[in-house]
Amino acid sequence: MDFSNKKFRKLLNQSYEMIEEWYSNNLRGEKIYNNTTPNEIKKVFKLINKNKKTDPSDVISHLKKNLIKHSNFNPSPNYYGYITGGGNQIGILAEFIKSALNQNNLKWHSAPANTEIEKITIDWISEFIGYNHKKRGGVLVSGGSIANLMNIAVMRKIKGEGFLSKEGVYGNQKMRVYVSEEAHSSIDKAMDILGLGSDNLIKIKTKNFKIDSNLLKKKINEDFKTGYKPIGIIGIAGTTNTGSVDPLKILAKICKEFDLWFMVDAAYGGPAASIKKLKKMFEGIGSADSILVNPHKWMFVPFEVACVIVKDKEALKKTFSLIPEYLLGGIENEDRDDLMNYSIQLSKDFKALKVWMTIKTYGYKKIKKGIKNDISMARYAYKITENDPSFIPIHFPELSIFCFKYKSKIKGVSDSLINKKITEMIEDDGRVFFSGTKINNEHVLRINCVNHRRNKHDIKFLFKVIKEVGLKAESFFTKG
Ligand SMILES: Cc1ncc(COP(=O)(O)O)c(C=O)c1O
Repeated sequence: MDFSNKKFRKLLNQSYEMIEEWYSNNLRGEKIYNNTTPNEIKKVFKLINKNKKTDPSDVISHLKKNLIKHSNFNPSPNYYGYITGGGNQIGILAEFIKSALNQNNLKWHSAPANTEIEKITIDWISEFIGYNHKKRGGVLVSGGSIANLMNIAVMRKIKGEGFLSKEGVYGNQKMRVYVSEEAHSSIDKAMDILGLGSDNLIKIKTKNFKIDSNLLKKKINEDFKTGYKPIGIIGIAGTTNTGSVDPLKILAKICKEFDLWFMVDAAYGGPAASIKKLKKMFEGIGSADSILVNPHKWMFVPFEVACVIVKDKEALKKTFSLIPEYLLGGIENEDRDDLMNYSIQLSKDFKALKVWMTIKTYGYKKIKKGIKNDISMARYAYKITENDPSFIPIHFPELSIFCFKYKSKIKGVSDSLINKKITEMIEDDGRVFFSGTKINNEHVLRINCVNHRRNKHDIKFLFKVIKEVGLKAESFFTKG
């Protein structure tokens, strides 16, 4: 399957050229999204004759012609969807290098440099957000959803009964976990997958999108009295909907009082804890028994990479280590720490390289600069909505997510309806991209400003597009 060295170099150059073109032509191109249909895409990429080989150079040319056209180019500052980071360029190179090495990070001897670099990056990330503990340890995983699952598995293992691994949750007192009603859906999924049941994820009401700690305490007390076994509280350091940070210090205190596991979902907001001015907001994050952070969100690293970090790495080992015969062997040496013992995953790619290259290349300083930029962009958007009567801001952006409404001017058409229509029509327009959400049961517009490439001109352009699309949405309702 290998090519000659000359041919391989030619193909690498061809790929590099394609990527270079995307970054020189498409970052602020005419459209970042082409709203094509599943069938159109299937037609372009289907294999016609599966036994016929294709020259690899033609394969890359095919991608050059079609791939970006049918993608949603999120490196662009005109992309505001979900909580997607725009990815940095050194990470692109890391992905190339990683695949060429093809390390399998299951045991130390299968990927020596990889294993040690992963541990170094976990230390760097922890230090960056102020999670400093002597016995700390962690692993890189694919994303925040898996990291939430793993964190809750650790909580369940440490706080559940000793027989849990063999007998499952049967026979345990009903375990309960507490989080705000703004929790990410992956936490509900994890409760279901782990057999704890989503009914035992107790969603506490919020004040200003942050957990109401008085209600939380009341509920925990009630549950103890009625025979449940509260096992942990999950604080959110940057909610998905509005980027709000729970009162982590208070949550840490409540956990101590009731002897509960304190977990912090810092998948999105965690890196902002590195910003001096925001330290107060994140106070308490260091007291967590376990946390998750996604470098693929606010450390600008390309997908996929998140991490699970625990105060005492033995908790991870206790939850995930299982060594069958075929994974024995090799030199036994205490220094050689096999990452498979800390994770669900056995075979694993060299995710650490792109995180390591990101921090090594840009340093904490540039990453922090990107984070500050994104917060100021969200706040600039907030200011626009405050001063423009076409809009209503929903909240002041604490971090880099901002929700607002386009005000309906059509009698009988609610704001909710018009904002829902705008999120549909924005796809058809394609010049910018964002995803909507619901706040207090009403459709609103939501922008995620995580992208170090964005500036005020981009934000002005966004609002120009929204107003134009807003007018079209209004005429949709008036013309019927
Ligand atoms: C607070 C929070 N936790 C977890 C996740 C899930 O992360 P991922 O999309 O990497 O699975 C998200 C995603 O946006 C999030 O905002």
